[in-house]
Amino acid sequence: MTLRVGVVGMRGIGDAHAQAHSRDQLAKLVAVCDVVKDRADKAAAKFGVKAYHGLGEMLRHEELDVVDVTTGGPENGGWHFEPTMQALEAGRNVLVEKPISNDIGEAREMVRLAREKDLYLGCNLNHFFTAPADRARKLMDEGKIGEQVYCLHRMGFIGGEAGYSYGGGGGNFDGFPYAHLKAFLAHPFSLMRHFCGDVTHVQAFLDRPSFRRRAGDLMVSVVSVHVRFESGAVGYLFSQRGDATMGLGGWWSFELGGTRGTFCIENCVEKLTYYPAPAAGEQFGLGAQPAPVVTDTGVKDFGATFPARIHAYLEDVAGRVPKDRLRASGRDALATLEYTFAAIESYEQGGALVRPHPLPGIRRDPRAQ
Ligand SMILES: NC(=O)c1ccc[n+]([C@@H]2O[C@H](COP(=O)([O-])OP(=O)(O)OC[C@H]3O[C@@H](n4cnc5c(N)ncnc54)[C@H](O)[C@@H]3O)[C@@H](O)[C@H]2O)c1
Repeated sequence: MTLRVGVVGMRGIGDAHAQAHSRDQLAKLVAVCDVVKDRADKAAAKFGVKAYHGLGEMLRHEELDVVDVTTGGPENGGWHFEPTMQALEAGRNVLVEKPISNDIGEAREMVRLAREKDLYLGCNLNHFFTAPADRARKLMDEGKIGEQVYCLHRMGFIGGEAGYSYGGGGGNFDGFPYAHLKAFLAHPFSLMRHFCGDVTHVQAFLDRPSFRRRAGDLMVSVVSVHVRFESGAVGYLFSQRGDATMGLGGWWSFELGGTRGTFCIENCVEKLTYYPAPAAGEQFGLGAQPAPVVTDTGVKDFGATFPARIHAYLEDVAGRVPKDRLRASGRDALATLEYTFAAIESYEQGGALVRPHPLPGIRRDPRAQ
């Protein structure tokens, strides 16, 4: 089955999505849309499809199976709600960029409407649609990790004071103290939840370095979050937006330690290392341990996550998987935003322990029994 797709919001990320759809055998890119006429027209010429300058017009003229929303906006998610709701109201499945929204009320409403309309609402939580994440999942399924003990995740933008510049006046982040959290934490929280399950407790400390304060930049860019998972395991997330240069693991590392072994993914698409726990009777002195097993994928391009994730969404929709099995669903994206808002609440209460708002229940499909 080929799905007829229209992309809304034709800048950098819309272009990457349109590219992925136009190369995917499960999709037929039929239209692009942007409220800035020139952007829509140029993209339409590039992909050889029809241009629209408003979503209403595109929905009236095209029989779409999927509307792909890449509109960004304040805190990189402020313009996701309107087109997503409009497309769902029109009975279209939606893939929306992350964050699902910058507003928790809007995000809950988007997930509610998709469920009411019985449509596939997916989110581009692309960081675990990779070969290392697939291999890590296999290790877990084979029992090589065992009971989960801890996870340590670091993901952020490398930088420092010399490279910092602040434009002030008007970007998507200017004047929004929590823009880094709302725009970015969807990624690390989605990884933690993908591997470790639901988070039940959150405690956060946030800050910004003095060079941001001096420039009048309000954004809290240093994020330190301690969590507890439903399983009982504990987790730690560190994220920042260009205030320091991270050492071990660089911009992206995820480590999950269990009673039978530990895995670490580096640089998202690049490398997986498995550290088996000592076998029964094996003795190791301090500083020694069983030899790790390294898998280097040879992939360096983070951009590879876009076609991989988009293909998974198309596969799920074309294959009509039960809605509760949709990978990286709107509900999954809502979970990441609930944790983000719990972290903000914790920070505002001086580091208090916060229980994230409960997620809507899962409605199981009887056909999937
Ligand atoms: N998943 C990832 O790895 C990843 C990476 C980077 C960015 N993103 C996300 O991608 C999204 C888009 O990023 P970008 O940098 O391309 O954004 P952008 O702001 O540069 O472009 C958004 C485009 O959408 C258009 N637009 C806004 N509202 C519209 C509407 N209602 N109808 C039609 N067009 C509309 C704007 O005119 C603009 O051309 C953001 O939400 C961002 O968070 C995701």
